[in-house]
Amino acid sequence: MFITMEGIEGSGKTTQIANITRYLEVSGYAYMVTREPGGTKIGEKIRRILLDQEHHMLDAMAELLLYTADRAQHVSEKIKPALEEGKIVLCDRFYDSTIAYQGAARGIDADTIKTLNNLVLKDISPDVTFLLDLSPEIGLLRAWSEINTGSRDMGQSRFECEKILFHENVRKGYLALAEAEPQRIKRIDATLSPGAVEDAILTELKRFLRSRPS
Ligand code: TYD
Repeated sequence: MFITMEGIEGSGKTTQIANITRYLEVSGYAYMVTREPGGTKIGEKIRRILLDQEHHMLDAMAELLLYTADRAQHVSEKIKPALEEGKIVLCDRFYDSTIAYQGAARGIDADTIKTLNNLVLKDISPDVTFLLDLSPEIGLLRAWSEINTGSRDMGQSRFECEKILFHENVRKGYLALAEAEPQRIKRIDATLSPGAVEDAILTELKRFLRSRPS
């Protein structure tokens, strides 16, 4: 089973991934937690290029190809083997991020992104995706306050420096995806308290785990 977590900056993904991980651990499931960009040794190097604040000149197509290269490595080296071993894979961001960030926000056409994604996916796709949804005003305020308190690394925040309109377009991209694929993408109101968000996610997750063939 392949679970992905999506949302704009400051949507609380990190906290909720920790909560889901704890649930999988205490319930005795075999699982692997991973993230994009990154997740592999090569991917972590690509991640550094992608998030480096000095790279404000990074061309949009180069950016898309780097995310896709990272995903190619990640799928073949880690995700596909773990799924074949029967593990639950929990991934912080996956291809919906590309559609929302490089597509809806940067303006690269959806067909180009889908074509590239299909080249690297090797028949795998998320079974369930949690979209932590909130307005960029609230999300960015949260992300910036984490930078100020030192719990988030300023050097990794190239996207946090984008204008608010960029993040509004990311959000619109996500919401369009959730509307197009309501079976897979579960929109969660991320303005709720962390405990309420956790309850909403775990309720859905337990339903999915029950319906999964053993
Ligand atoms: P990260 O520090 O992991 O942010 P977060 O904690 O919000 O997940 O940075 C990842 C950044 O990469 C994030 O701003 C979203 C962006 N991204 C894309 O633009 N396209 C993609 O395909 C992926 C996977 C991420």
